[in-house]
Parts: sequence; C-alpha cells; structure tokens
Amino acid sequence: MDAPLRLGIAGLGTVGSALINLLQNKSETLAERCGRAITVTAVSARNRSRDRGCDFSSAKWFDDPVEMAASEDIDVFVELIGGTEGPALDSVKKALEAGKHVVTANKAMLAYHGIELAEVAENSGVLLNYEAAVAGGIPIVKTMRESLTGNDVTRVYGILNGTCNYILTRMEDEGISFEDCLADAQRLGYAEADPAFDIEGNDTAHKLAILASLAFGTKLAPDEIYIEGITSITTADIEAAKSLGYRIKLLGVALKTDSGIEQRVHPTMVPLNAPIAQIAGVTNAVGIDADIVGELLMSGPGAGGDATASAVAGDIADIAKSRPGHQHGPAFGAPVAKLAPYKRARMRSHEGGYFIRLSVNDRAGAFGAIATRMGESKISLESIVQKEADASSANGTDDTAKTVILITHSTTESAIREALENIRNDGHLAADPQMIRIEK
Ligand code: HSE
Repeated sequence: MDAPLRLGIAGLGTVGSALINLLQNKSETLAERCGRAITVTAVSARNRSRDRGCDFSSAKWFDDPVEMAASEDIDVFVELIGGTEGPALDSVKKALEAGKHVVTANKAMLAYHGIELAEVAENSGVLLNYEAAVAGGIPIVKTMRESLTGNDVTRVYGILNGTCNYILTRMEDEGISFEDCLADAQRLGYAEADPAFDIEGNDTAHKLAILASLAFGTKLAPDEIYIEGITSITTADIEAAKSLGYRIKLLGVALKTDSGIEQRVHPTMVPLNAPIAQIAGVTNAVGIDADIVGELLMSGPGAGGDATASAVAGDIADIAKSRPGHQHGPAFGAPVAKLAPYKRARMRSHEGGYFIRLSVNDRAGAFGAIATRMGESKISLESIVQKEADASSANGTDDTAKTVILITHSTTESAIREALENIRNDGHLAADPQMIRIEK
C-alpha cells in the first residue's frame, strides 16, 4: 500500500464533524478501495473547545486555516469553512499554490472565484474537487465532468436547495407556516448560516452557475443569473397550483438558446405528474437534457451533514486513487484557457407558459379589461379560473376583491410584463399580481 493520504480539515461544523466520523468509521473500507489509508493529520476551526461529537484528538490543531493550508503535514486541504471570500478563499488559494489538492463544499466561493482557483490548480498540477458544492450527496459534478464528456448539453435544471424544497413541501402537505418550516430546516442543519441565501434563491444560483459552466463549457457567470426566491409564495398559490395540476418548486434552470445562455432561479410550476414534482422535502434533483444520452434526472439528499460528507469523502477518495500524471481532468471539465466566454440571453426573451394570480376589484368590466390587455400583448390564455371562495382576506387586500387565476400558453417574459403593467395601470387590481413561470 502507498503512504497514507494526509488531510487537513478546515471547518468543523455539521459537515466537518460528519466527515471525521465517516473517515473513522469506514477507515478500513476506504483504505481497501483507495489502496492507501486516509488520515486526518490536521484540523482548524474557530473554537477549539466546543464539543462536536467527533474525535480529532490525534490531529494537529491550527488556529489559522491559511497556515494549515501550506503545512508540510498535509497532502489535501479540505475546506468546509464557507463564505465567498475571507479565510475560505485565502486558505484554498494558499493550499493550491503550495501544491496541495483541495476538496471544498463551498459553492459561493466557487461561483465567484472558481475559474481563478482552477487556474492555480492547473498551474500547480493538483486537483480541485467540489462534488459537495452542488446538490449535496448527488454525484452530479462527476457525472457532468466525466460521464457526459461525449455529450452536448442543452439544458440543466434542478431543485438545488434542500431548505426551500423542505419548506414548500411542508407548506403544501401540512399547511405549516413558512417561518415554522424555516426554523425546522435550520434546526436540522439544512440551512445556510444566513438563511436568506436559501429562501431568496442565492444558494441555488451559486450551484446553478457551477452546473452551467460544466454543462456548456463556459466561464462561470454568477452575476448573470435572474433570481427570485420563495418568500412571495403563499399557501393560496400552492393550493391554486394544485387545483390546476401543478406543484410549485424553486428551480434553477440553465438553457442554451439561439441568443445565448439563459440562467434563472425562480419559483416554478411543474406538472403534478412530472418526475421532478415528486421530489419532496430536503431532497434535491438535477435534470440534464443532452444530445446523445437524452434526458437524465438524478435525485438524492441535497443538504445535511452525512449527505455532504458523503460527497466530500468521494472527492478525497478520488485524490487517494489518483497518481501523478494520471489524475482526473480539470476542475470545470476543460482547461481554463478553453472555457468560452459566457454570453447571456436576456430574461425578457424567455419563452414559456405563465401562472398569474390576480386579486381583482369586483367591478363590472374588470375581467373583460384584463382579457383585453392579455390579447393586446398577444398572450393566448389556456385557462381562467375565478376562485369561488374569496381569498382576499388571506392576501390582506380589499374584501371586495376576487382571486382570478390565469394560465397562459407559451409566450414571452416581455409580453407578460407589458400586460401586467397595463392591467395594474388600469386600476383593477387590489394587490400586486403574482406571476410564476411554468416549466414543462
Ligand atoms: N443550505 C443548503 C440547502 C445546504 O438547503 O440546500 C446545501 O448546500
């Protein structure tokens, strides 16, 4: 057997502790599968004395992860600190420059600095592995980076945030409030340190940027993503969606169009019988449409200590099995110099169906005026439903208002925005309209 692979783990939160337990409990199996032992020789965290439910007493302690990153005691730097910049970025850069392989779960850092880091890794001849950064335990990065090399991908999409999917599922199944669901997700260790990243769609966007780069061979473009979170979704939307044969999911979608790449994150109506509509709770799913293989959908746990540690351990095992000169490929599938510049498709040209929920003042001519405005913008309606029960009290609006749900045939974002603006200006609405895109 070769010499043990020596790890330095920075960050001992939920994932770091789960990883240490996994490496200890499975040390023999891992050694057999990798042809060498994997040992934790160094650790770094903010607080040395906190009880974490794992034993790292034989590892050398570093107060400073940047110092650990360049230490002679380690071969691999495992970054589980989090954050786009700061100690996470400083230490990862330092490790790569010092010729250490890096394993990270840090999607925000990769979305913004992945290309720069991949370049340093290439120059140093080391691996930058980040399976845990996207969709937790689902091995989607390896699938895209390695198994789909012979394909051209046209669309990648998914439920990429366990916290949001958990909240939407419980709101639908149990009628529990948004706030209570979020508190449970935090208690269970699914949510980000700042849960606004989850519910406002940024966490999904970071993961989508990585998937889009892998899918289309382009540079990362996290600032070119259209983002809407789930904070405006009410139980009224969820119920209306269901009655019309849809379920609401927070999706990240990256699509190749004639005018460029569309990257968007927003609550999305998916048909109730679609496979992705069955993905419940903290589970994530990633779908890929590609020219040779066709359509793929992978699902699994997207957050939580063990699921994330599983992906980190897989990345570590890859490094343990690699040999100089026979390492796995570049971080984003192609060398940085070969990645194409990103060209953005404008959101206003997005095409698809729309769900619109309007709270309409109950006056003669109001419905006719709405239908006219839709027609003027060349929007064809698939269905119009006036809810029998007056939902206005739930919306906090005028109690003479009636809820009207419109489903459109395929149209453009600019047409919908124009029609809604005109309807609003006509003065028929008692509250801001709700608009949710439909993904087939
Ligand atoms: N907060 C994230 C989620 C954790 O809920 O999916 C995994 O990235």
